Amino acid sequence: MNKTLTKDEEKALLDAAQQVRENSYSPYSKFEVGAAVLAQDGRIFQGTNIENASYGLTVCAERNAIFAAVGAGERRLRALALVTQKLPGMAFNSPCGACRQVMSEFMPPDTPILIAVLDKQKRIVYRKTLRDLMPFPFDKFSEK
Ligand code: THU
Repeated sequence: MNKTLTKDEEKALLDAAQQVRENSYSPYSKFEVGAAVLAQDGRIFQGTNIENASYGLTVCAERNAIFAAVGAGERRLRALALVTQKLPGMAFNSPCGACRQVMSEFMPPDTPILIAVLDKQKRIVYRKTLRDLMPFPFDKFSEK
């Protein structure tokens, strides 16, 4: 069902995540995140993090990308890519718990999650699955 992405699909998804990151509204954290999801029909939906003076109202890039897809009527999502800057001492930043739960609603556990960091003009990609990030999910896919 969730077949592995081709190199071209991976690149298109990562490019989309990197491009939308330019729209990040993150004046408080200065941490810019771009995300993109690949829908089953081949369309790509993008989202970036949008912060607020009332900090807790911030919405992460991943959720904005997933909600863009679902809002457009596409609920079958094949992969998600995430692009951030490199933080000192961290190999990469992985999605927050709230985003993992939202991913689990629309993506089966074997869904590829590409986590990329930008380090001195280079994009380093870590390949995970949703199962890696969210074992034993509370979702509609798992055997109960
Ligand atoms: N953020 C994301 O957009 N995605 C993540 O995976 C982690 C955190 C955002 C939220 C906030 O705007 C900033 O990064 C710092 O937490």
